[in-house]
Amino acid sequence: MTETVLLVGGGGREHAIARAVDDSADAELYACASNRNPGITDLAEGFEEVDETDPDAIVEFAESVGATLAAIGPESALNAGVADALDDAGVYAFGPREAEARIETDKAFQREFMLDHAIPGCPDFEVFEDGEAAADYIRNYDGDLAIKPRGLTGGKGVRVTGDQITKEEGAEYVLESDYDTYVLEERLVGEEFTVQAFVADGQYRVSPAVQDHKRAYEGDEGPNTGGMGSYSDATFELPFMTEGDYTDAVEIIDAVVEAMPDYKGILYGQFMLTSEGPKVVEFNARFGDPEAMNTLPVLETDFVELLVAAREGEELPELTFSNQATVCKYAVPEGYPTDPEAGAKVNIDPESAGEALLFYASVDARDDGVYTTTSRSFAVVGLAETITGAEAIAEEALAKAGEEGLRVRHDIGKAELLQQRIDHMNEIRGE
Ligand code: AMP
Ligand code: GLY
Repeated sequence: MTETVLLVGGGGREHAIARAVDDSADAELYACASNRNPGITDLAEGFEEVDETDPDAIVEFAESVGATLAAIGPESALNAGVADALDDAGVYAFGPREAEARIETDKAFQREFMLDHAIPGCPDFEVFEDGEAAADYIRNYDGDLAIKPRGLTGGKGVRVTGDQITKEEGAEYVLESDYDTYVLEERLVGEEFTVQAFVADGQYRVSPAVQDHKRAYEGDEGPNTGGMGSYSDATFELPFMTEGDYTDAVEIIDAVVEAMPDYKGILYGQFMLTSEGPKVVEFNARFGDPEAMNTLPVLETDFVELLVAAREGEELPELTFSNQATVCKYAVPEGYPTDPEAGAKVNIDPESAGEALLFYASVDARDDGVYTTTSRSFAVVGLAETITGAEAIAEEALAKAGEEGLRVRHDIGKAELLQQRIDHMNEIRGE
């Protein structure tokens, strides 16, 4: 039977999901988002402009196209109950309902859930509803802290003392910002990595680890962004990790799935590999952006078959991956993320990207071409036997695109940065 898949969201991550649906043996794609992503609309039979946090509008579109499945990209939609509304309307949503999505959307819930269910890898934390009390705690805490507003902040609300700011600046941050609840937690030190699991009916299937680069500028300088680019290796680990580190992370995911039997969709574990092994930085309730662009292109298992098995409550297929390394680099508008300048013409398309894959993100498709907006513009992804080989393919595509009005972190995936990560981890392990 042909499945009719509704995709919610219009970024680079969703372009990667659209490709995975398009590569599927028997599926038709429809899409809805607040922006018109030309990569997605080119693959879709139909597109509707909607607010991604408007469940009624999304259900109406799903019903009008006869959707049999839905894939939800952004956390804002999960937070707004889009999965609940689609499920209740009889359209199986591969994405958690609002209650389970709290594992991402409510950071206090997430830490308390870990504590209540004895999920391994939870840092010490305290929750504060009072800014004054939070500021006092920060000033008197013996060590550095991560300061996190409870709700979603688009990846821009967290501050880490001893890294981006001093403790006094951290205290001022909680006094001056108007978030109502903060989670203050022990600062974890190490190397970060992500493992994304496909989850349904108490089962899960994992994918290769990915490392994102959140800082805006080369050498990990500047403010945090949504993610400037990411890489994965031809194996499930990354060069700075052992197989045992990966397995330890999977054990944490296993414990979450056991403690949340109704969870469905992608469970994204963000880990800090510390001297004591992987600890949880956070969980997300959806694919990462950019990490989806590393994972889906190497997934050989039919993505829609996986969703059908999830919907039917069948055993999820074992996943196979192409054993290739990947490097993803985002091109972002000049000035991003603080003062982005929109309106540059994007001089690359899927054909001219050559050997690399091109994923459009926040762009504006006009009659005379594709233009940048104020958020991440497009990503190129190289696939090869090695990370450095994949990096070279991504760079070739970027060279063809030109960089007028755009900025790229060229260091992502380069041998020098990979070695720095290995050295850093050795130092942390005291080797
Ligand atoms: P989030 O918005 O939760 O993704 O956090 C953004 C970034 O803050 C993470 O990717 C980490 O780099 C950093 N971060 C969050 N929690 C911690 C922590 N407990 N220790 C150190 N860094 C953290
Ligand atoms: N790349 C980080 C995220 O998707 O949250």
